[in-house]
Amino acid sequence: MILPIVAYGDPVLRKVAAEIDKDYPDLEKLIANMKETMYNASGVGLAAPQIGKAIRLFVIDASPFAEDEELSEEDRAVLKTFNRVFINAKILEEKGDEWVFNEGCLSIPDVREDVFRKPKIKIEYVDENFTKQTEELDGLAARVFQHEYDHIEGILFTDKLSSLKKRIIKKKLANISKGKINADYRMRFPLAKKGK
Ligand code: NI
Repeated sequence: MILPIVAYGDPVLRKVAAEIDKDYPDLEKLIANMKETMYNASGVGLAAPQIGKAIRLFVIDASPFAEDEELSEEDRAVLKTFNRVFINAKILEEKGDEWVFNEGCLSIPDVREDVFRKPKIKIEYVDENFTKQTEELDGLAARVFQHEYDHIEGILFTDKLSSLKKRIIKKKLANISKGKINADYRMRFPLAKKGK
């Protein structure tokens, strides 16, 4: 089932999300719905707060990046299979010189901006079977993880922009909250007028 994606301005996107255990109700179904919602919106990641649940769960499928011919064979091979469910994820280590990548977010349609992040991370999480996993990621795989991880901490990529850039996009963000935007997937807007 495709779920509506919560737009910028909804308080759920600002909550520090709570850990879950394997008794979380209908978890399997929720994960399947989140994947369907992500694919329907052509996203490479979707975090539970974006469908209105402040829990530490996100899904990633970065395989579309594997088509990018500017990347090395090795990076493309990693991205092709970077399709995972992350529950109660933690970043154990983040290192290297920050690099820039043009990010977007399904909760903030039509806004793309350059964001700086460290390139190498070491992470820990449990998968959909609640099996503990530790991984080291770099490049785009790390980037997608960091973006989704920020969501469960109540952080959005627009928070990481310069104050000048923030001023420039302020009006656009306000319009998104009001639903004055055309997204080609189902959304829920915090400040939309009734009947819209
Ligand atoms: Ni996002």
